[in-house]
Amino acid sequence: MDTVIQQPQRNQRPGIEDFYMKFRYSYFEVIEKRLWLLGILIAIFVSFGGLAEIVPLFAAAHGVKAAEGVKPYTPLRLAGFETYVKSGCYTCHSQMIRHLGYETQRYGAASSAEESVFDRPMQWGSKRTGPDLARIGGKYSDIWQLEHLKNPRNLVPESNMPNYDWLIDMPINVANVQGAMRAHQKLGAPYTEEEIAKAPQALEGKSQMDALIAYLQGLGVDNVPVERRPQKESQL
Ligand code: HEC
Repeated sequence: MDTVIQQPQRNQRPGIEDFYMKFRYSYFEVIEKRLWLLGILIAIFVSFGGLAEIVPLFAAAHGVKAAEGVKPYTPLRLAGFETYVKSGCYTCHSQMIRHLGYETQRYGAASSAEESVFDRPMQWGSKRTGPDLARIGGKYSDIWQLEHLKNPRNLVPESNMPNYDWLIDMPINVANVQGAMRAHQKLGAPYTEEEIAKAPQALEGKSQMDALIAYLQGLGVDNVPVERRPQKESQL
């Protein structure tokens, strides 16, 4: 037996809603039929949304200060930072632990903005071919770091990290480090003239490899507030 589907009867007389829709639509039609106008308006509204998100962050960034007890990089660690940047370590390693359970369980406490106030340029990144390095300091011994940097496959056979053995023979350019200290000083890092003058002594006989290892060993240690610093095994 055929079933007859009853169509709901619609009141054909235009109601107040129809009039309202048509009236509103005529405005929208002006935009919808002119692609250039639609494009311009989209650009305006999207940038308004962007500005509303970005401007408060810019303002907040200027208020970020180093935590109590956190000092700018020592000359050796600053040289290591420069080596880290120029060797392109950031192309595979991030230095920012997000507030997500699986990140904090793997790497440790989530990163905060104050930890990287002395990093210029900042090394947060998002590319993780290798693990995050924000809390790498103290995880391994200096010898482990050296062997790993010389040839990562000596310690981690499946690693695809490049060898950095040549850094052992690379001397540190002392004048560059002093110049960097001065530049940081201009940007607000509290280096004293004495510290800058003493930099050559601190760098004597050190290679870029030594500097890089010193830099890595302080990550997540020297740049966090004293009470949050991980305890060394000898202190436990
Ligand atoms: C091509 C990508 C790549 C580059 C460039 C790279 N790494 Fe790695 N790195 C990795 C990978 C992958 C691992 C994990 C395997 C391993 O431990 O070797 C790793 C691991 C590490 C680890 C051990 C992390 C841990 O928690 O076990 C350290 C430390 C490290 N890298 C430092 C550096 C430094 C310093 C540089 C720059 C001089 C650098 N890496 C450049 C890919 C890279």
